[in-house]
Amino acid sequence: MRARILSFNADPGDGDTPLEGSVSYFADGVLWWAEGVVQAVGDYTELAPHLPADASVIDHRDKLVMPGFIDSHVHYVQLEIMASYGRQLLDWLNEYTFPEECRFAQREHAEQMADVFLDELMRVGTTTAQVFCSSHPASTDAFFSAAQRRDLCMLAGKVLMDRHAPEALTDDTYGGIRDSERLISDWHGTARLGYSVTPRFAPTSTRAQLDAAGGLLRNDPSLWLQTHLSENLGELDWVAELFPGSRDYLAVYEESGLVGPRSTFAHGIHLDDEMRTRLAERGANIAFCPSSNLFLGSGLFDRAGARVQGLNLTLASDIGAGTDLSGLATLKAAYQVGQLRGTPLTAWAGFHDLTRGNAVSLSLDDRIGSLTPGRDADFVVIDLFASPLLARRMGRTQSLAEELFTLMMLGDDRAIYETWAGGRLQHRRQT
Ligand code: GUN
Ligand code: ZN
Repeated sequence: MRARILSFNADPGDGDTPLEGSVSYFADGVLWWAEGVVQAVGDYTELAPHLPADASVIDHRDKLVMPGFIDSHVHYVQLEIMASYGRQLLDWLNEYTFPEECRFAQREHAEQMADVFLDELMRVGTTTAQVFCSSHPASTDAFFSAAQRRDLCMLAGKVLMDRHAPEALTDDTYGGIRDSERLISDWHGTARLGYSVTPRFAPTSTRAQLDAAGGLLRNDPSLWLQTHLSENLGELDWVAELFPGSRDYLAVYEESGLVGPRSTFAHGIHLDDEMRTRLAERGANIAFCPSSNLFLGSGLFDRAGARVQGLNLTLASDIGAGTDLSGLATLKAAYQVGQLRGTPLTAWAGFHDLTRGNAVSLSLDDRIGSLTPGRDADFVVIDLFASPLLARRMGRTQSLAEELFTLMMLGDDRAIYETWAGGRLQHRRQT
């Protein structure tokens, strides 16, 4: 594919100009892949003579190619309750979320929604996500099957909940663990899939279930873990009440062996320096979910402070509390949260985080997140002139940095011209 090509080799930092060597950009570039794997990336005139004689060249010289976007925290089972009005976390869970997740007891519904969700991901250029299913194992089978059919790199897990939820969603403490074990043996490491052990959050699991989840991770360190942490003040009070012996919310997870380099904690808004240091020391990551945090009124995540403390961060939509599945919309919301804290996100940091940064923090960077030889051919073809307004504004930009910032503020799914994953065309915009 001949196109403008942008990818990151390293963290660009938070300054207006990216750190030296962090950005790889070819104004007239070529990306060569075969059998789902990137073979070479470079300047077209330099590389063209070295391409195989029978290679067919797709000419996208007017488009910008980037690695596929990554969403580190999203609930596929909540797609249809996006935009449910006016509650904070705990009421929102009880009123909208739990009733909706009950519908996934029906396998056909789960299968249909897994496909709807993946269609939507492809439309917004997201090629990898770490996904919460419902507590029904069939919801997870449905998701993994759909992802495998499309040859996508996806992480997912069945929610573990053995209390404080409707009967229809509540596991038997160890039954939920056995279901997870069965799903792990069927799906973890199958094709491009990985399993994330998924206790929903501390209030909906007993200590026995959290400990057993920690046992799964001890038995197999290649597993991922995903849960929620310190999102909402009402939630914090509840956790303190339920776990009076733990010194803080994070300690509840530490005591069960859930905090490690493959752990993702969604939100982490209300954390003190000491908790952030403990997370950083274990190499765990916090998923910053800006549109969700604004929607549920949870608070303004301190990205800059977390970065100073060396915390691994990821970016996420957190649908259904998030208001948009698009990575571009997540960047726009992250910029706005940053503005309100006096530390606006640059386009360099934003697009790095959406691609390589998320891959590194999820320990997937040996496979995805940047366009270099040996990585999987997952990429997005962006049309910077996708709408009349975008085209008009792009006409006034004078640098790549300005183009990228315009894209993250004004771009939407119309800017996603094509999405490729596993070397396969997964989506092309209807023009
Ligand atoms: N905390 C526990 N469950 C959830 C959920 O489904 N969404 C969000 N945003 N926070 C949670
Ligand atoms: Zn969530």
